Amino acid sequence: MKILVIGSGGREHALVWRLAKSERCEELYCAPGNAGICQIADCVDIKDTDVEGIVAFAKDKAIDIVVVGPEAPLCIGLVDALESAGIKAFGPRENAAIMEGSKAFMKDFCKKYNIPTAGYGRFTDIDDAKAFIDKNGVPIVIKTDGLAAGKGVLICQSVEEAYKAAEEMLSGAAFGAAGNEIVIEEFMDGEELSFFAIADGESVLPFGTAQDHKRVGDGDTGLNTGGMGAYSPAHMATPALEKKIMDTIIIPTVDGMKAEGRPYTGVLYAGLMLVNGTPKLIEYNARFGDPECQVIMPRLGNDFLDVIEAAVNGNLKQYGGKLEWSSKSSITVVMASNGYPGSYEKGSVIKNVDEAERYEGVKVFHAGTARNDDGELVNVGGRVLNITAGGDNIGHAKRLAYEAIKKIDWPGGFCRFDIGWRAVKAEEEKAA
Ligand code: AMP
Ligand code: GLY
Repeated sequence: MKILVIGSGGREHALVWRLAKSERCEELYCAPGNAGICQIADCVDIKDTDVEGIVAFAKDKAIDIVVVGPEAPLCIGLVDALESAGIKAFGPRENAAIMEGSKAFMKDFCKKYNIPTAGYGRFTDIDDAKAFIDKNGVPIVIKTDGLAAGKGVLICQSVEEAYKAAEEMLSGAAFGAAGNEIVIEEFMDGEELSFFAIADGESVLPFGTAQDHKRVGDGDTGLNTGGMGAYSPAHMATPALEKKIMDTIIIPTVDGMKAEGRPYTGVLYAGLMLVNGTPKLIEYNARFGDPECQVIMPRLGNDFLDVIEAAVNGNLKQYGGKLEWSSKSSITVVMASNGYPGSYEKGSVIKNVDEAERYEGVKVFHAGTARNDDGELVNVGGRVLNITAGGDNIGHAKRLAYEAIKKIDWPGGFCRFDIGWRAVKAEEEKAA
């Protein structure tokens, strides 16, 4: 089979790496890819949102399946365009990717289908928004309806702060058109986990759990980032909890989307809050998490290409409701450019990645990497490397990942040193 993966991050490196292991994968392309992906796939210089360019390339190469990594191309209808051209694609169509693209859609959908989530209101008028804030009190959560690169969510501790957030979003000052409408939500207190599922429009299979670390600093402090590390499985994930998540959230969603005439195919990524043991939906994403994908891919026991093909062809039932998973745990630590998530310099040389990978069970996925004119590896993005390790438990995997990181010679980068701390603490408490 000929496969084309869309995207250029660590998530896409992990996807390409798994697909390359499949015996039926004969030709593997990635648009646009990065320096790590180019070692195992043919990288083509087409932007992930260049729908026409991607369709033309896929037709030219007679690609069998296009696997879409990021949300932006999904939300502008890349899958629809490929299907119209007779090319199979893994990922939701535009009318299903709206689950991530519009928070207002997602909240109304949850209300209609009784899916547990935070209470909310939708607003385009500032006076109505303020009245809702007055009525509900603080803490309260203010969100842009549209995509805002993960930044359109503010948790407000005072009424003044909440007024200001609503005003800045609705006026367009903070996030442009993404804030034309806002969602104001009840604050949910609990611990977060990420839950993944793969759907074929009708049936859906659980696809692993993870926890990520969004803040830039140790101890979960500092600015929000795209994710500084993750581990899988999430420490609180039990078969009973997973069943509850499938029964109360994931299955009703896939059934509801079918009933709405928006069949959901692809990855459904639920950001969940565990509130006194009850899983509640914070948000849906229409794709794998990054860096969560990097810790889930190594744990999948089945052939990933088979699973993707089954999803695209509506055949997930063949797995009898369950995929195979390794009993090992995995962790990934992000190395980012100094200064990230603020401004940073590009082009600093990174050495000894291959030495880090010499440890058994360690794999380094690339994100913002490229080669300079001398063929040296350099940073070209904020998040740059994902040092990923597998172990008997999270503590073991964590030690390995940080051993491997010591080998990497990159003065221009940094990492957090406490990735997986919640799981390590839980493991230590269990052992005591
Ligand atoms: P989102 O982009 O919707 O996932 O929100 C980003 C982060 O804000 C989430 O990962 C949560 O940590 C937090 N958050 C969002 N909505 C709520 C809520 N209703 N209650 C508490 N925390 C929330
Ligand atoms: N790691 C969070 C995300 O991919 O949205």
